[in-house]
Amino acid sequence: MKQNTRTQWGQVSIALHWTVAALILLVQVPVGLIMVSLSQGTLQNVLFTSHKLIGIVIFLLALFRLGWRLTQPVPSLPADLPGWQATSARVTHALLYILLFWMPLTGFLYTALGGYPVPFFGLGDLGKLVPDNKPAAELFEAMHIYSQFILYAVAALHVAGALHHRFQRQDGVFERMLPPAARPSGGTRVTGEPARYGASRR
Ligand code: HEM
Ligand code: HEM
Repeated sequence: MKQNTRTQWGQVSIALHWTVAALILLVQVPVGLIMVSLSQGTLQNVLFTSHKLIGIVIFLLALFRLGWRLTQPVPSLPADLPGWQATSARVTHALLYILLFWMPLTGFLYTALGGYPVPFFGLGDLGKLVPDNKPAAELFEAMHIYSQFILYAVAALHVAGALHHRFQRQDGVFERMLPPAARPSGGTRVTGEPARYGASRR
């Protein structure tokens, strides 16, 4: 099912979650770290261009995802989850959403205000949309570079929480974000919810 329900993420939410997670963890961050450690040359230029392009794609996916999130039901957390864990999960998710916009925005503003090009497919140089302003560019550069550590910390907390659900609580919260084909047989189970949630399948 494409849509979310009160107990399950729909295929659109699941696809967006894993596409964006993979783009950030496996592509954008490694490319960012490698490109700044290389000496100037063709490879560095290609990586810079890819980093800018993928960053804008992540921003557009985040916009679509937020729109989808706001117009869909959101699966509830297990009723027996301790209050502090439910609050941590909500705060962590909110911070991740903020970072999905903040990282591309600071990267874009740093680049564009610094007078560097921001090519985006056939749309030309998006950097021209913003006037040059070197002091402001330096500020956004520092924000972009230091914010990566906030991203690492929040993502690590998020993954730790997900693994806690998977191995400690075994309450089905981890499994409900997996594509249906990758779920263990027997479906997902969110304990502590009313009985009708017990064998929830889509
Ligand atoms: C989710 C999106 C993004 C993430 C996670 C991300 C992450 C990173 C990381 C980890 C670095 C290496 C920082 C360092 O240690 O020096 C970096 C550098 C950089 N990023 Fe991004 N970035 C994103 C989006 C963007 C966008 C959209 C642009 C521009 C349009 C951009 C432009 C740059 C530039 C120019 C640098 C080099 C900074 C320097 O000169 O040291 N980034 N980014
Ligand atoms: C291996 C890495 C990851 C794992 C195992 C993982 C796991 C999960 C799981 C199980 C949920 C569902 C929680 C629930 O049903 O209540 C979830 C939600 C979420 N994840 Fe991840 N995640 C990972 C990486 C990421 C990354 C890199 C980001 C973004 C930078 C991210 C952003 C989110 C957000 C924003 C939600 C909340 C969804 C919403 O409320 O719309 N995740 N994640």
